Amino acid sequence: MHNIITHDSYWYAGVHSAQDYPSLSTDLTTDVVVIGGGITGLTTALSLLKEGKQVVVLEAGTIGSGTTGATSAQLDTVPDQGASELIGKHGLENSRLVTKARMDSILLIETWSKEFQIDCEFERVPGYFYSEDESRFPELRDEFHAMSQLGLGVTLTSDFPMPFPIGGVVRIDNQARFHPLKYLSGLAKAFVSRGGLIFENTRALPPHGGAPLEVKTDGGNVVSCEQVAVCTHSAFLGISMFDLRVAPYQSYVIAVRTERSCPEGIFWDDADPYHYFRRADPGVEDLVLIGGADHKTGQSSDELGAWSVLEEYAEKRFGVREIVARWSGEYFEPDDGLPYVGKVPMTSSIFMATGFLGTGLTLGTVAGKLMADQIVGHPNLLSGILSTSRVSAMASSSNLFFETANVAWHYVADRFKGEVVYALSGIERGQGELIIFDGQQIAAYRDEEGELKLLSPACTHAGCHVHWNDAEKTWDCPCHGGRYAPDGTRLYGPPPRDLQRLDVKSISKGLESRTGLETKTAPRNS
Ligand code: FES
Repeated sequence: MHNIITHDSYWYAGVHSAQDYPSLSTDLTTDVVVIGGGITGLTTALSLLKEGKQVVVLEAGTIGSGTTGATSAQLDTVPDQGASELIGKHGLENSRLVTKARMDSILLIETWSKEFQIDCEFERVPGYFYSEDESRFPELRDEFHAMSQLGLGVTLTSDFPMPFPIGGVVRIDNQARFHPLKYLSGLAKAFVSRGGLIFENTRALPPHGGAPLEVKTDGGNVVSCEQVAVCTHSAFLGISMFDLRVAPYQSYVIAVRTERSCPEGIFWDDADPYHYFRRADPGVEDLVLIGGADHKTGQSSDELGAWSVLEEYAEKRFGVREIVARWSGEYFEPDDGLPYVGKVPMTSSIFMATGFLGTGLTLGTVAGKLMADQIVGHPNLLSGILSTSRVSAMASSSNLFFETANVAWHYVADRFKGEVVYALSGIERGQGELIIFDGQQIAAYRDEEGELKLLSPACTHAGCHVHWNDAEKTWDCPCHGGRYAPDGTRLYGPPPRDLQRLDVKSISKGLESRTGLETKTAPRNS
């Protein structure tokens, strides 16, 4: 499957996932180009179409094949960092406005599902934020009070039929869940049937200002337009200040056939990293999506272990009969806890949205409506709060420093961790490794047929060295979350291009004379 990293997600089971829309093969002119066909992009596109704009959507993979198709599809309105922290950082009024916008986003998904007759399993369910640790009840009570201040309908209780003991729970009314790919498929159909254009497997290059504004594609075509909305989840702008304002994380999900039944609702706990779960399908009590084990993208030494952590969690709480699917999704944490949405600083016609934390389905919908309002000139109370050029006290505090320092460490100290090898035959089928061969730093991968792919390990965004992800067989960049296929094809994130491919023949030309020398200078990690 071309350019898709979420094909192992449960949402693809039983859902048509092939390319539905053509790739761009000609030059075009339109009012607005939307880059990215996830929930943010299609919400923006359909909102603009309803306002009478001509809109073209350019999607590098297929609709929903980025993070939208990789979530657990819980629609909640509780701040990801906690209600108390959000209020502490941004004040009660702004926090209430953001929370209200997320409530409205769930209402919009519900309304559009009905309006466009999208059978996406949308269902209003309660949300449950709980602690398994009784001693944390005071903190839970504080969160309950902060959630009340945000205008959420909440109840504090210790009485709830979880399939395992808990120390306390806050019940939140009017949350929801749905099937994200069915929803996006319905939005795409509604958009196209009303005159919008979607091009899949069409990668746009990062847009630059200018008049007329032009968006170029990797196929060499150009779409001329008046405005661009960059809805790629990360900031797809080349190297920009947002590289230091958001940090990439990976969250893991498993679909489990369980022994004990899962109650109706959406659930998340107060652990760090936290766990979240929900029934996979409406009415099915013993098929559960369980997520968590988050870590920074490209910075784990054991991605496969993240799924083991979740499986252990599932076994203890629910009993595992069968693991049905395993996958991960990427999200971006902003330095001050709120997304950046609006006009890109120093440009007049380029809009962007990034930094949705782990709540991108609601915040992506909020961002889509906000960008559409800004493009057509409607006032929106969130414009200032989520401004891309805001200078927040929080953005210069320790959080930003920590994140920035972490990135800088990877730029400088971790430039290369490959082993010196004398022969390439030691790289096994299906495995990628960072190596030094004949003095050259190489990202090497041998495919299942035995063919070797040799790549430059330098990420095409800002040159950090990629890391082999053995769980999903991808090259992941630890700096800003770029991800590549084993053959170097760019899959996701800020990088504009594929990894540079190296000439296997010329690099390994002395190989035959060394077939007896397969020893490495250091023992291979077991
Ligand atoms: Fe920025 Fe790789 S994603 S250097």
